[in-house]
Amino acid sequence: MTLEGKVALVTGAASAAGLGFASARMMARAGAQVMLTDIAADAVLARAAELQGEGLKAEGMAHDVTSATEWEAVLSASVKAFGKIDILVNNAGIAVLKWMDALDVDDWQRQIDVNLTSVYLGCRVALRQMRAQGTGGSIINFSSVAGLVGIPGAAAYAASKGGVRIMTKAIAMECAKENIRVNSVQPGVIWTDMQQVAIRDNPAQYDAINATIPMGRMGEPDDIAAMVTFLASDASKYVTGGEFTVDGGLTAQ
Ligand SMILES: NC(=O)c1ccc[n+]([C@@H]2O[C@H](COP(=O)([O-])OP(=O)(O)OC[C@H]3O[C@@H](n4cnc5c(N)ncnc54)[C@H](O)[C@@H]3O)[C@@H](O)[C@H]2O)c1
Repeated sequence: MTLEGKVALVTGAASAAGLGFASARMMARAGAQVMLTDIAADAVLARAAELQGEGLKAEGMAHDVTSATEWEAVLSASVKAFGKIDILVNNAGIAVLKWMDALDVDDWQRQIDVNLTSVYLGCRVALRQMRAQGTGGSIINFSSVAGLVGIPGAAAYAASKGGVRIMTKAIAMECAKENIRVNSVQPGVIWTDMQQVAIRDNPAQYDAINATIPMGRMGEPDDIAAMVTFLASDASKYVTGGEFTVDGGLTAQ
């Protein structure tokens, strides 16, 4: 799965233990030039510097994915830095986990803005650029198993991730003939900062969660990065509009 000669943009790539950075690192090691972006500006520059330290081609940039203006700026900066964009990974996300009766309108709106509107904004600017280049492309959108099955306390998150999953298919239908492929990934429970925050008040939940997973353990960021790298590469050249669950069997039960 080589990405030699390809340029990728990955959002939400600031967390050292996160799925965005793992994906950016694996794609860079496979030969891609990578633009890492995140609202956490200092941290994303540090992650890009780590990759540069490995001799890989990477740049970092501050980016709030809810801002249409910032999307335009990030796309221009990526094209200026690397000449084009072949791969977009819409990874940035937050989890607003509240039961429905405690979920206020601001919580709901923030969840939808960061996880769903951001993906619409990113796909729109990337599609315009990829169409102008005329050489195809691959867009990978982060959904979740919460976009497939019902999880209590996750209604807003589920709405955002289910939205990403089905919006991905619709976009894929619009650009299939131009060889711009659009797919979504449904991670299961992966041990990142997001999970650590979610269960920090209840360590016993760690064992309880592992017990629900057929493979007996949470996933590692590289389990997701491997799927992202496959979807980014020409090894998946006949794959579009798909949804790819990487969950240790969680939703197969
Ligand atoms: N970890 C899991 O178990 C899991 C499961 C299913 C889906 N996911 C999804 O995978 C993606 C990555 O999750 P993670 O576990 O690595 O999370 P994480 O919290 O470790 O990292 C998310 C990153 O997104 C960034 N971010 C947040 N708001 C932003 C904004 N407005 N603009 C730009 N960047 C912003 C954060 O700064 C952070 O670096 C998310 O979309 C998440 O919903 C994760």
